[in-house]
Amino acid sequence: MPAMSAASKYNRIAPVYEVLDLPLELFFFRSWRKEALADLSGKVLEIGVGSGRNLKYYSPDVLVTGIDNSEGMLEEALKKAREMKNINLSLMNAESLEFSDNSFDYVVTTFVLCTIPDPVKALKEMRRVLKPSGELIALEHMNSDNLIIDFFERLIDPFLFFLLGDHTTRQTARNIEEAGFKIKEEKNLAFKDVFRKIRAKT
Ligand SMILES: C[S@@+](CC[C@H](N)C(=O)[O-])C[C@H]1O[C@@H](n2cnc3c(N)ncnc32)[C@H](O)[C@@H]1O
Repeated sequence: MPAMSAASKYNRIAPVYEVLDLPLELFFFRSWRKEALADLSGKVLEIGVGSGRNLKYYSPDVLVTGIDNSEGMLEEALKKAREMKNINLSLMNAESLEFSDNSFDYVVTTFVLCTIPDPVKALKEMRRVLKPSGELIALEHMNSDNLIIDFFERLIDPFLFFLLGDHTTRQTARNIEEAGFKIKEEKNLAFKDVFRKIRAKT
């Protein structure tokens, strides 16, 4: 049987996606989203917008472009964006963004860099489309420096990849730097250093 692409996996789970991680959303993610997104201004590009969970946290003055390569997930986001005049959503691969250089004030990723097949390639694209003054805002889970957590992450990685195309062992902070970004803030949010908020400049 041929391997399923990340987009096919997300198309399949799109109708139930928000149920799958509801406990994490309620206990952690929603307050992190609010804190990370409330003060953004100008033009924002959200990568892997998914079912559109972040959309309500942007100020109505912000022009948000959201992209995702799963039609199923985008359909869910479109339902939420229907009444929001400041949101534009498109089907697009993060690894080859169809935007000019220096287009956005912010690029946002939330729980996405663990699923994109080549995260460094996508991060280089994000850097290209950011203005020189622009900033990357990332809420992501990544490989822990703690040996016990690392062991657990290695154990669950194949299962989560099979189900959701999600990797628990990615060195996401290192990937962000490898793409040329300079990390300005790195804050551990939960499960020691697994969930982190990262702000990085071009
Ligand atoms: C775990 S979900 C996170 C969704 C959303 N950002 C959130 O915070 O709830 C990961 C999303 O990234 C999208 N994605 C994965 N690889 C992608 C790629 N190469 N280009 C665009 N979107 C991608 C998936 O389709 C999915 O919607």
